[in-house]
Amino acid sequence: MSRRIALAANQVPERNERVLVEIHGKSLAVFNVADTLYAIDDSCPHQGASLCGGRLEGRVIQCCAHGLRFDLASGYLLNSTALKVQTYPVEHQEGEVFIVIACQA
Ligand code: FES
Repeated sequence: MSRRIALAANQVPERNERVLVEIHGKSLAVFNVADTLYAIDDSCPHQGASLCGGRLEGRVIQCCAHGLRFDLASGYLLNSTALKVQTYPVEHQEGEVFIVIACQA
């Protein structure tokens, strides 16, 4: 089961920008990389630092706390599967943007 959550216009980042979004008690960081949107938990899987303010290079986000880098598309630590930040599918429909969140059974 999953839910699609529509983003308000001000929650959709412009090209090469990022927006922190609160959805049902979760903090998500939404990135626009060359007009593709990526949504991840705003919590580094290493020690929980915010990733929204990290350094972005292409679709790689670098955590400010200890410098680990994650692929925004897969969520995995670069060149590794040891750590993964939760990613969320982003869908577009009739001009609206939705984030798909899996519900716990
Ligand atoms: S908390 Fe992100 S790298 Fe340590």
